[in-house]
Amino acid sequence: MTEHLRADPDGIARAAALLAAGEVVAIPTETVYGLAGDARDGRAVARVYAAKWRPAFNPLIVHVADAGAAEAVAVFDDAARALAAAFWPGPLTMVLPLREDAGIASLVTAGLETVAVRVPAHPVARTLLAAFGGPLAAPSANPSGRVSPTTAGHVLDPETGLGGRIAAVLDGGPCPVGVESTILGRSAPGWQLLRPGGLAAEAVEALLGQPLAAPEPSADQPTAPGQLSSHYAPRVPLRMDADAARPGETWIGFGEDGPLTLSASGDTVEAAARLFDVLRRADARGQPIAVARVPQAGLGAAINDRLRRAAAPR
Ligand code: TXA
Ligand code: MG
Repeated sequence: MTEHLRADPDGIARAAALLAAGEVVAIPTETVYGLAGDARDGRAVARVYAAKWRPAFNPLIVHVADAGAAEAVAVFDDAARALAAAFWPGPLTMVLPLREDAGIASLVTAGLETVAVRVPAHPVARTLLAAFGGPLAAPSANPSGRVSPTTAGHVLDPETGLGGRIAAVLDGGPCPVGVESTILGRSAPGWQLLRPGGLAAEAVEALLGQPLAAPEPSADQPTAPGQLSSHYAPRVPLRMDADAARPGETWIGFGEDGPLTLSASGDTVEAAARLFDVLRRADARGQPIAVARVPQAGLGAAINDRLRRAAAPR
């Protein structure tokens, strides 16, 4: 049985106690629900991987309460501090050198010398991190390769989620951003965009005053989940950039009204918030899915990235 906890003081205290006991708990963040375990406890982290059927080479993001706690885990330079000051708390993850005394279980980083850190903005996540008092390793709370959850109901679904496989879900309502965080890593002169996400790349580039580099491709060692060809996948086939539905297809629109539109007004922020819920509802109809063209600007880059993975051959 997976406990369904309300995000009130009792529910948050229960979640913190389960985490302190080495259990795994799904928690709300502003992007998607994360499956959290104590990042200092290798057995808890192993439970996170096991509950998701996640390949052990794919490292996890460490969630902390504030920039000070992040500096206890990773080595920051001035540029990383400027990004943290501008965008934390929020949907930004930075991959930085792991501090030698970080105390993070090696399974979190899959043995890498870098660590991915972020300070989530969701008020329930922040209250929980304060109550727990330590770093939480948390990938998205979905079976590996499947659609990310943006409600507690998605997490609890025994078929497409993790219901029955985890100790509890802390219900903070629907996630306001709806796509995973933007992941940045260092590249020789500047920064590279390892995964487009809930923070628009344009906003990062404006702060840095220089463009983000594309990630260096490496076939055998994916550095971010985007490089795994099939990811965020519904069970039925999906095609994107469609002009119209073909007979027998479920239509997901953009910039038009409809039962499964991403945004009737053509707003990419609203479309990101609705994306994974709409994908799940389309998937449940059991027919192939066709998705309208979504512009690439702003959060459109993250939406199109997720749709491309969902459309990839499995
Ligand atoms: O919004 C999010 O980022 C959500 C919420 C829960 O915070 N989390 C999330 O985690 O999307 P996950 O595990 O599904 O994706 C994080 C990805 C990993 O798949 C991994 O490829 C990349 O971050 N990553 C983690 N540590 C890394 C590292 N040291 N170097 C390169 N990539 C890393
Ligand atoms: Mg994920």
